[in-house]
Amino acid sequence: PTAMVIAIDGPAASGKGTLSRRLADRLHFAHLDTGSLYRAVGLAVLRAGGNPSDAAQATEAAYALHPETTPLVLADPALRADEVASAASQVAIVPAVREALLAFQRDFAAYPPGNARGAVLDGRDIGTIVCPDADAKLFVTASVEARAERRLKELRERGVPVIYAAVLEDMRERDARDSQRAVAPLKPAADAFLLDTSSMNADQALDAAISFICSKT
Ligand code: C5P
Repeated sequence: PTAMVIAIDGPAASGKGTLSRRLADRLHFAHLDTGSLYRAVGLAVLRAGGNPSDAAQATEAAYALHPETTPLVLADPALRADEVASAASQVAIVPAVREALLAFQRDFAAYPPGNARGAVLDGRDIGTIVCPDADAKLFVTASVEARAERRLKELRERGVPVIYAAVLEDMRERDARDSQRAVAPLKPAADAFLLDTSSMNADQALDAAISFICSKT
């Protein structure tokens, strides 16, 4: 495969989702938000009335995701709910779940849909585990306060009544779970470009990312 691969990792609400979408648009690359795969597994367990921290249930749900139907599953708006994010970070701890989702992600990178010449994948372990040979790797961060503030704004815009302290607490919890787990913890690849978006808007982040990618290719 000769598709170009851009790996984007970072914590929740760092701006990596928006950045990845805009990069893919700009470059005419395919985009995979890998967090939605974990969300889909978490949601499937919740819908079956199960417990996302039960490894066997999570593993079964992960293996039940089939490549042909996955694009539809990933478009489900229910994936965006906060309890689904939390379920996602619980199923993401299970090594067999991560293993089950690996093939789909690597396939997407090697053969991007729509015959695109490249792919942008965003998540937590793209540069370290999923695509260690990516052509360009970015690690997008922002302070936990800046990220909680962004999430608060986003939730309020969707009409969800929330308070800042609770959002901040949730963010800290998810950060801890993602960066302290034994398998594929959230951490920058050694060759990743660190992009701190705490005081950047989406346009500035896109410009910085594009300059870096151009310097690499
Ligand atoms: O990025 P998003 O918030 O949608 O991800 C939901 C959860 O899925 C994360 O908190 C993380 O636990 C898990 N995840 C992961 N590896 C990825 C992407 C997401 O473990 N590559």
